[in-house]
Amino acid sequence: MKGTTTAGAQRLNLIPPYHSRRSTRKVQEKRRAGVDVISLGIGDPDLPTPKRIVSVLQEAAADPANHRYPSYFGLGELREAIANWYRERFNVAFDPGTEILPTLGSKDGISHVPLALVDPGDMVLAPDPGYTVYVTGAVMAGAETYTMPLKAENHWLPDLDAIPSSVAERARLMWLNYPNNPTAAVAEREFLERAVEFCRRHGIVLCHDAPYSEIAFDGYRPLSLLEIEGAKEVGLEFHSLSKTYNMTGWRIGWVCGRADLVGLIGQLKTNNDSGIFQAVQWAAIEALNGGEAETFAACEVYARRHRLVAETLNSLGWSIKPPRATFYVWAPVPPGYDSIGFASHVLDQVAVNITPGVGFGAHGEGYFRLSVTAPDARLAEAMDRLRQLKL
Ligand SMILES: Cc1ncc(COP(=O)(O)O)c(C=O)c1O
Repeated sequence: MKGTTTAGAQRLNLIPPYHSRRSTRKVQEKRRAGVDVISLGIGDPDLPTPKRIVSVLQEAAADPANHRYPSYFGLGELREAIANWYRERFNVAFDPGTEILPTLGSKDGISHVPLALVDPGDMVLAPDPGYTVYVTGAVMAGAETYTMPLKAENHWLPDLDAIPSSVAERARLMWLNYPNNPTAAVAEREFLERAVEFCRRHGIVLCHDAPYSEIAFDGYRPLSLLEIEGAKEVGLEFHSLSKTYNMTGWRIGWVCGRADLVGLIGQLKTNNDSGIFQAVQWAAIEALNGGEAETFAACEVYARRHRLVAETLNSLGWSIKPPRATFYVWAPVPPGYDSIGFASHVLDQVAVNITPGVGFGAHGEGYFRLSVTAPDARLAEAMDRLRQLKL
């Protein structure tokens, strides 16, 4: 007799526990023990969603027209709003009917794209350190992953020339993410052009994850992959309202790019979920149509916080510059520590939660990530605490 299954499916054994879950558990234990932990561990904006967006949600939530199953492919008005946003921001034109698909946050698109495009045994190229879902999504689809190390000496860009041709020939999909989590690096046009050319040459779908495209400082404006000539023939871009409008909890984003690829993800998703609550979609339309003032204001807050963190770390012996984009600080751990050891030391000694670099892959070892998405007073307190840290 088989009895009740107590072990999970084998494929779950292939993926490590989501790194933030492990550290969240440790932080919770400390808090239960009465310790006032300041978390700089997760990239989750502390600033609220702009009021105009919340108001549209409130009104739309009360309308029975929004209480039924939404369209699998998103409201036409939302796809139009996304197309307009791309045209204004990047001067890129999309057919909203075929080249844009709203998703339940970008994680929904990222985690599912291998199931739609990749067969077991195919190769997926993923940056390391990187957002872990590139690898776990590929593993769930039975793919093999090939690590593209990101290194300081290459400005945290993968070395495309180092990818063996045997790997490139088997690869079906490549992940890039700029502005980058966790390293806060940015990519210039020349690199993106080379990536498009590489993927075209090898028949690889280039997936660019761009949730931080609007979180940038001092006039810097990150590029969209789809601004690059020829990118739409090889590529997809994954986007999100999470970071741009402080909407991480709302779960709305999109994938856009080559129509047949977008269509395949849509085909998969009709079997996985039943779309996005329509009231959230109306709020997203309001967000996208409402201009950039709130996002610019949020970026000023992040820029100020970045300066405070850089000043603090530099006064303690680091030598870092505030980043050009993202709300992350990526810095080396002091000599004598590995990244988990240093993060534990900081948590135990001064009750500040930072993320060990190794949580983003083996090549993140030797670094830690800190997010400036804590309220000003809490971040200032965290910096005061770091000044007390004994190394
Ligand atoms: C690089 C990157 N991609 C995607 C996501 C997922 O964002 P969301 O699903 O909220 O759109 C995150 C979230 O932290 C991220 O850092």
